[in-house]
Amino acid sequence: MGHLLPIPIPIPIPLFLLILGVVWPVFGGSDDQSTACESLEINNIADFRKLENCTHVVGHIRLAYVDLTVLAGNYSFESLATNVTEISDYLMVYRCTGLISLQSIFPRLQIIRGRTLLFDEYGLVVYENRNLREVGLVELLRIQKGSIRIESNPQLCFVETVDWVYVMGNSTQQHFSLKHNRPPSQCPLCGSLTAEFDIEKNSSEKCWNVNTPQLRLRPPRSDDCPKSCGQNGCDKAGKCCDRNCVTGCYSLNCSLCGNLQGKMGCMNQCFASYEINKRNCIVGSECRDLGRIPLIRGWQCVKKCPGNQKEVPDAKGVIYCQVDCKGDFHIKSAADLENLQDCVTINGSLTIELTNIKEKIVEALEYALVSVKEITGYLKVIHSAQLMSLTFLQNLDAIRGDKLVENKYALYVVNNYHLEHIWPPNHQVIIQRGMLFFHLNPRLCYEKIHQLQSSLKSGENISVADVSPNSNGERVICGDGVRSLTPKVEDLNSTAVRIILDYMDWEGMETLIGYSYYYKEAPLQNVTMYDGRHGCGHDNWLMDVSPNKSRRHVISGLKPYTQYAYFVKTLTRTEYHIQMDAYSKIGYFQTLPDRPSPVVRIFGNSETSSQILINWWPPRRPNGIITKYIVFSEKHNSTKEQKDKNFLISESLNTKDLDCECVDVQPYDSGPQPDDEDYYNKEQITYEDALPNLIYVSRYHINRRKEFEKVVDYKHLLSLKKEEEPPTPAPTTPAPTNETIEKEKKAALTYERYRLKSEIRQRNLQDLDQERYRIRHAPPKCQNSRASVVQQVEDKCIVEEPLDGIEVRANQHSYRFTQLEPETFYRITVRACVEGVVNGCSTPAEYLIKTGSLGSEPYILGV
Ligand SMILES: *[C@@H]1O[C@H](CO)[C@@H](O)[C@H](O)[C@H]1NC(C)=O
Ligand SMILES: *[C@@H]1O[C@H](CO)[C@@H](O)[C@H](O)[C@H]1NC(C)=O
Ligand SMILES: *[C@@H]1O[C@H](CO)[C@@H](O)[C@H](O)[C@H]1NC(C)=O
Ligand SMILES: *[C@@H]1O[C@H](CO)[C@@H](O)[C@H](O)[C@H]1NC(C)=O
Ligand SMILES: *[C@@H]1O[C@H](CO)[C@@H](O)[C@H](O)[C@H]1NC(C)=O
Ligand SMILES: *[C@@H]1O[C@H](CO)[C@@H](O)[C@H](O)[C@H]1NC(C)=O
Ligand SMILES: *[C@@H]1O[C@H](CO)[C@@H](O)[C@H](O)[C@H]1NC(C)=O
Ligand SMILES: *[C@@H]1O[C@H](CO)[C@@H](O)[C@H](O)[C@H]1NC(C)=O
Ligand SMILES: *[C@@H]1O[C@H](CO)[C@@H](O)[C@H](O)[C@H]1NC(C)=O
Ligand SMILES: *[C@@H]1O[C@H](CO)[C@@H](O)[C@H](O)[C@H]1NC(C)=O
Ligand SMILES: *[C@@H]1O[C@H](CO)[C@@H](O)[C@H](O)[C@H]1NC(C)=O
Repeated sequence: MGHLLPIPIPIPIPLFLLILGVVWPVFGGSDDQSTACESLEINNIADFRKLENCTHVVGHIRLAYVDLTVLAGNYSFESLATNVTEISDYLMVYRCTGLISLQSIFPRLQIIRGRTLLFDEYGLVVYENRNLREVGLVELLRIQKGSIRIESNPQLCFVETVDWVYVMGNSTQQHFSLKHNRPPSQCPLCGSLTAEFDIEKNSSEKCWNVNTPQLRLRPPRSDDCPKSCGQNGCDKAGKCCDRNCVTGCYSLNCSLCGNLQGKMGCMNQCFASYEINKRNCIVGSECRDLGRIPLIRGWQCVKKCPGNQKEVPDAKGVIYCQVDCKGDFHIKSAADLENLQDCVTINGSLTIELTNIKEKIVEALEYALVSVKEITGYLKVIHSAQLMSLTFLQNLDAIRGDKLVENKYALYVVNNYHLEHIWPPNHQVIIQRGMLFFHLNPRLCYEKIHQLQSSLKSGENISVADVSPNSNGERVICGDGVRSLTPKVEDLNSTAVRIILDYMDWEGMETLIGYSYYYKEAPLQNVTMYDGRHGCGHDNWLMDVSPNKSRRHVISGLKPYTQYAYFVKTLTRTEYHIQMDAYSKIGYFQTLPDRPSPVVRIFGNSETSSQILINWWPPRRPNGIITKYIVFSEKHNSTKEQKDKNFLISESLNTKDLDCECVDVQPYDSGPQPDDEDYYNKEQITYEDALPNLIYVSRYHINRRKEFEKVVDYKHLLSLKKEEEPPTPAPTTPAPTNETIEKEKKAALTYERYRLKSEIRQRNLQDLDQERYRIRHAPPKCQNSRASVVQQVEDKCIVEEPLDGIEVRANQHSYRFTQLEPETFYRITVRACVEGVVNGCSTPAEYLIKTGSLGSEPYILGV
């Protein structure tokens, strides 16, 4: 219910009053008649001059503390009328006295785009205007983004008579709040004097004031359109109308687009063209003709180059913006990234030192450094436990090494605990000059570093002193030994999933402590393991640790009807030298649907004494595909505390009655943190002392151990590997005697028997406690729809409960009750129902409302 909470609007306003806007009439737009102005602050009558000639405001308009009661002689209301048809950001009207209708100021305003919002939230705010009687934005068709807040205007009528849902660009993303204005029962109705005379009126009519109906453009067809059209309707041929076209059905020949207008029709963002005045997309030459600069990054047509960019003329004197990224940059936190935004070449060096492991920064790095192609100096990455790879430099092609660390190193990578990869796969970064220095990166395999040899232009060989196999990669097994896991989803319901792994083989069990399961919401199946990933457990992935050898695991607390990505990794003993972590590929699953949460934000009014029009918002968590709503009304015996006209019970209901108990786990709180290293060592190793003394592979094993003892350099390491490879004994070995052959054969058989036995034992160990991993399922619907309770228990099924009320289509969020008694309290309930779930309707949200009276309503002309 966040949008219903009052926000302390009046407090920050006076601050804004200090900032005085200046009008800059700018050229632009495609139509000749238009003149764009920048944001405007109107604080007194004289300021209205600034609006002269403006047809669209690129920015916001704030009318605050304007006193119009002095209007006389020199000014008339007519003289205030502006030609503004568009406001790109927002409109705020605050504490204006003597202002009766905004029609006198904005008679032609058609659209508020909401590109930048007031308090990041509002597109239209009309607040505390003492004399305002009507909103009167008679030509307004669309508030494309941002919420609407019309509040505490004691005389204001014609607020509820406006169809705000029609006005909003995307009603599922925007909200409106109309409060503490003049009660509608004391207001005139559309096209008539007062409610009293107009019981039989066609109340589907909407208006801005007595005389001006609200313009609501209708699609060519609204019935029998394809379902996907929603409320936008379709053309005669059944093609859905485009909601982005405000003035019609077709985006191609639209005269007013909700977002941007390009040559090819309405667009959501400029594509291969440049955005101007937050309303048009124009081609580069048009932008130049206006004396502006086309900026490729962000596709903007700008007057001058932004922030860290400078103007650079080319040979013909044409000005371009060029990012100027000069100097040595030291990134310690996200705030340091600002100066690197959009840099293609860093003329200098880059040092990354993310010592604050609590700060979530990997995504910000990815975003800020995406365009970096070249670093002229060196790249230094130190003490950054958060980094698992340097793939955030996804487009880096070269490190020039014009400047070097210690006059020697172009790439200097030291003490990064979780670093496992260097560059993105299949990507080479050329190092023009200088060497590598890699130390104390315990999870980075030596081979991976060694592969960089080919990108060193100096041709010098990597030396052991610079890149030590003893201080890199000692925490992981490097090379081909990495195992992979193959998890499968075995069962799931709406909030939990059971994942099962293949049996871990006998050897793997030796070092296994358990598994960690990573998962995150993934609307699309394009997730990769290193997306926004931190080294420290707190990344975008949520993590469950299962510190036992069971191959089953239940992840619970999931959101219903949601697709998740997941992968599994082993937890192995870190002190054991031949440690290898096995990973699975990324898989996906979707949870089942469930009952939706109650509908939110019910509101309604009784326009006539016999009718109640009720509106609601869809549930916050639909938990599936909503198929219908069930609305129900009954007379309510009013009691003392319910004297207030509109008593919204649903508000108190909603907070405690979200049907599903989803825990919104913050990625930050999940999984062990790096300082919990001991966690992984909880179970101490118990060596397999029972192993008979005739281990068949002992020779092989001894060799393998040696490999980790002392490696002089990489060549040495490679030579060790080669030696061990041929499984047949070396030819120099004396020919085996019949006796030894016989002995070995017997040993092999004994070993095989032993292996099988322990394999079975290990498998049983992985299958223990299966009951613990059950997924609970709701019983199915009974065949017999009248089954008794006993029958239901016997047949393990449930009966679909009939619900009183009227079914309303899922795409409709309002309902009109008719033939009601006047001046009577009604209790209205609304439920949302989901497909494929037995009894899949939400708990009812309630609303208490009284119908209007038949004849005794005060006859008030809205004075
Ligand atoms: C509006 O246009 C007129 C005529 O071109 C010009 O004289 C006047 O200064 C303009 N007003 C503003 C505020 O720019
Ligand atoms: C609005 O436009 C009309 C016609 O173009 C013009 O006569 C009038 O002066 C303009 N008003 C303002 C306030 O710019
Ligand atoms: C009206 O204009 C006259 C002369 O231009 C000026 O002296 C007077 O103060 C103005 N009145 C108001 C209320 O602005
Ligand atoms: C409204 O916004 C939501 C979320 O961005 C989007 O899924 C939906 O399609 C939008 N609806 C319309 C009508 O644009
Ligand atoms: C009410 O108005 C709508 C739209 O103007 C019209 O289609 C409908 O027939 C009217 N209903 C009555 C009862 O007058
Ligand atoms: C706009 O285009 C559509 C189809 O592309 C056409 O049916 C319609 O008549 C056009 N409208 C106007 C006003 O040109
Ligand atoms: C980097 O800066 C130096 C010194 O100012 C300058 O000579 C050089 O041209 C610049 N290089 C690039 C690629 O901008
Ligand atoms: C997945 O695709 C969507 C839409 O194309 C995109 O917004 C999102 O960034 C992609 N995610 C990844 C991890 O590539
Ligand atoms: C309302 O009051 C009447 C008479 O006092 C009673 O019969 C009826 O059950 C009450 N209804 C509700 C909903 O409390
Ligand atoms: C080994 O066994 C083979 C046949 O099994 C036999 O021909 C040979 O003489 C035996 N050699 C020795 C040294 O016993
Ligand atoms: C899904 O299964 C889990 C595990 O058995 C259980 O805790 C949960 O309540 C089930 N969810 C629903 C909606 O039944």
